[in-house]
Amino acid sequence: MAPVNSSSSDNSPARRILVTGGAGYIGSNTTLQLLDAGYEVVVADNLSRGHRAAVDPARLREVDLLDTEGLVRVMSEKPLDAVIHFAAYIAVGESMKTPETYFHNNTAGSLSLLTAMIRTGVRHVVFSSTAAVYGMPTTVPIPESEPYAPVNAYGESKVMVEKMLDWFDRIHGLRSVCLRYFNASGADPDCRAGESHDPETHLIPLIFRAVQTGTPVTLFGDDYPTPDGTCIRDYIHVSDLARAHIVAVESLVKGGASKKYNVGTGRGYSVREVLQAVEAVTGKPVPYQFGPRRDGDPPTLVADSTRLQSELGWKPVDSELTRIVETAWRWANRKA
Ligand code: UFG
Repeated sequence: MAPVNSSSSDNSPARRILVTGGAGYIGSNTTLQLLDAGYEVVVADNLSRGHRAAVDPARLREVDLLDTEGLVRVMSEKPLDAVIHFAAYIAVGESMKTPETYFHNNTAGSLSLLTAMIRTGVRHVVFSSTAAVYGMPTTVPIPESEPYAPVNAYGESKVMVEKMLDWFDRIHGLRSVCLRYFNASGADPDCRAGESHDPETHLIPLIFRAVQTGTPVTLFGDDYPTPDGTCIRDYIHVSDLARAHIVAVESLVKGGASKKYNVGTGRGYSVREVLQAVEAVTGKPVPYQFGPRRDGDPPTLVADSTRLQSELGWKPVDSELTRIVETAWRWANRKA
């Protein structure tokens, strides 16, 4: 099939975006922001982990990433300016039990998507990458120059896509921005979208569950080399993360080069501090207990995101911990 899409000229805004995984947590929040900003959005999702209710049925295309022909059909409906590629499995623990699922869905799935992009002439992609590409970093805050050293199959599945993207740029001129997320958290301030994983593995929703059910949350380890003995993470509000995707799309459509950026705040909070923030916001005590360390958890992960700030003018505005917890708590208590 001949390419049906032509890239936008340097000064025209991105108009029509294909969002893969738009029924998931970060994908649904980013879709809302794209729509708020005037973009036209089509969502490709197989709903294996996402939620049908998170997507307007008129824009949903139920298609599997591995179905290259299906993706080509979606991309051929109308010209696209870019793809934002979220669709992926994200559970680190699961990736260490069934790595084949992760290389199949995340790596081979991305290859299928890139193949469909080449066939239809779409040449801009923003890719959901992760701090997990760094493994146990030696420099904190972590700069993008830190080498790839994933310690789990999930992180490796993302490294492989980042490397494929380098080759697709060199050979096909397909330009990409890889956004390496730190700890995505919080919910849309108007409570239109938020986090809902099954099973849930993330700290803040699990602390909420403890508040709601009275069953203690287990904190993984109190003997880390950190000031209070618990792990430190860089929590980035999903709305700030969504805005990073929009500035990334704009840079590509305006002719910007392929890039890799960390997306975090540069400020870390310990597991105990997060728990205290939840107690302050909810006004309720959090039942908790300490358990052993979780395999593969680095003591401290904090982003150096100055590259994203200086090159694309992005900055976090919603990522104060209290705001993250407040918006997530509102989402956790929403009326269905
Ligand atoms: N934690 C607990 N108890 C729980 C769940 C988490 O103590 O029940 C702790 C973890 O040990 C960690 C912190 O809370 O110290 C945050 O854990 P999350 O599971 O919420 O997030 P991670 O930092 O493990 O994972 C995030 C993303 C992954 C990504 C990873 C990169 O969710 O997708 O960062 O390192 F791979």
